[in-house]
Amino acid sequence: MKVFITRKIPQAGLALLEKEGLEITQWEEKRELTEAEFIEHCKVADGIILSGRRMVNAAFFEQCSHLKVVSLLSIGYDNVDIEAATKAGVAIGNTPDVLSKSTAETAFLLMVATARKAFYHHKRIGNGQWGFFEPTAGLGTSLFGKTLGIFGLGNIGLEMARMCKGAYGMDVIYHNRGHNEKAEQELGARRVGFDTLLAQSDVLSVHANLNDENKGLFDAGTFAKMKNSALFINTARGGIHNEAHLKTALENGTIWGAGLDVTNPEPMDKSNPLLNMENVSILPHIGTAVKETRDAMAVLAAQNLIAGLKGEELRAQVTL
Ligand code: DGY
Repeated sequence: MKVFITRKIPQAGLALLEKEGLEITQWEEKRELTEAEFIEHCKVADGIILSGRRMVNAAFFEQCSHLKVVSLLSIGYDNVDIEAATKAGVAIGNTPDVLSKSTAETAFLLMVATARKAFYHHKRIGNGQWGFFEPTAGLGTSLFGKTLGIFGLGNIGLEMARMCKGAYGMDVIYHNRGHNEKAEQELGARRVGFDTLLAQSDVLSVHANLNDENKGLFDAGTFAKMKNSALFINTARGGIHNEAHLKTALENGTIWGAGLDVTNPEPMDKSNPLLNMENVSILPHIGTAVKETRDAMAVLAAQNLIAGLKGEELRAQVTL
């Protein structure tokens, strides 16, 4: 059977595929495949490992009728039309759980870096501005005993909440459709309505999947309901916040700071004014960029792919 892999993946995953005797084509060039190249490879494949943000929809499945499985090297699946995949009989796999700690760690890092203006102070040194000591300049904000609000408390949000509780004794509130019993029992987390989450969070961290309901949800209206002292952290998807509104909210002091691992669009343009704001920390979507995590993601993606090719249930399958 033929397998196409859209980006070079860790050997740990590749080895599993090789053991199965699959005919593997891996795209190793350090540039985005054109749409024509992508389709050309996928058309003849029985399964693909898809990394990156390329959309796969009904038109794609029509053109690639050989496909049995699309195995994502990500937890996020907002670039896949799951309904169209189901209709086409193509199984979709993703990589949850194995990346929860690393992604939460990135959110935690952005929270601390933003609270202490770490990226700004780092730049000051490079700009030759480490000069006269000013006791009242460049001050951050303390996180001890503050309230962490989680939008979308799944496994990643739970890890973030654990870190914040352990390190800073933060109170945890969250907004979800259902209750997260583990977070409530272990951390005393409280489920609250969306407006309460906005009003009470000192740090609001987004850990939800991007979907039609939350697209652009964090906009001028929502930022206006947050504390002026609040930090907004997003390591989920850039589409969940409105970047122009976020910039205005930061400029006007509607909220205090922001830490982003995800932007809209990606990559972020190097001239984006958010990059030069004192209270903003931005990373280039590196939430899972740890060797151990990427190895585990590659293994899970390979296992999903192999199961899909055999017509078996995937270890982590996305369903409607
Ligand atoms: C994920 O796993 O969804 C990460 O954001 C990488 O895309």
